[in-house]
Amino acid sequence: MTCRLPDGFVLHGFGSVPSTNDEARRLAEAGAPAGTVVVAEQQTRGRGRHGRSWASPPGNLYASVLLRPECPVWQTAQLSLVAAVALGDALEQLGPPGLELALKWPNDVLIRRAKVAGILLESGSIAGERAPWVIIGSGVNLAMAPQDTTYPATTLCSQGFPRLTPSDLLETYLGALDGWIRRWRHEGFEAVRSAWCARAFGLGDQIQLRLGGEDVEGRFLDLSETGALLLEQTGGGRRAVTAGDVSIVIR
Ligand code: BTN
Repeated sequence: MTCRLPDGFVLHGFGSVPSTNDEARRLAEAGAPAGTVVVAEQQTRGRGRHGRSWASPPGNLYASVLLRPECPVWQTAQLSLVAAVALGDALEQLGPPGLELALKWPNDVLIRRAKVAGILLESGSIAGERAPWVIIGSGVNLAMAPQDTTYPATTLCSQGFPRLTPSDLLETYLGALDGWIRRWRHEGFEAVRSAWCARAFGLGDQIQLRLGGEDVEGRFLDLSETGALLLEQTGGGRRAVTAGDVSIVIR
């Protein structure tokens, strides 16, 4: 794959790999620098969040970006929101006018309420306070979406996007990601938080979260200054949720 990259990014392109996140991890552990990008035409063992598999036939985008943010571990979770905002920007830039795009906490991208992209953030084992590396893995359905999901899934193709190659999308996405990472570094999380909230799915609504085995219901109040979802629980009390699935939005 050829594609113009922002300064400091280096592309490693593959035909088929088990998972671009695994390949990026291998490179990270061998000392590859921040800005290393692994992209593959297909994955044979693509992974999603919570150990789910990620359908990865040829034609979609599978990319993993290695970062070494040198920030405290708790802060690295913000990078998945940074990536979601960047991917949202890239899709709005490339898509048709009036695109109904939304970001579902923590890091799904929806178009007309159907999932078009997912992000899987992984970090290196933590000996001290800082993670040695963070990998942002992104999968975007350009041409193909799985049929067997418990949530609606869609493709860019069926949402009126012009014909795009994975490389076209990667180029725009990395440009946006580079810009948002810089803002996050220099201005802090607030700029990312407000860009994310401007497109948040279910913000202000009654939602149901699945947290491990537990279902929790309440109103999605806000995103905290660290990136947690603030929930006003139906039974009373506020809760800051740092992991989980927004599985249902009740209208
Ligand atoms: C999710 O929504 O559950 C996250 C999906 C992340 C999929 C991407 S595809 C590129 C990278 N490699 C993987 O194995 N997973 C991520």
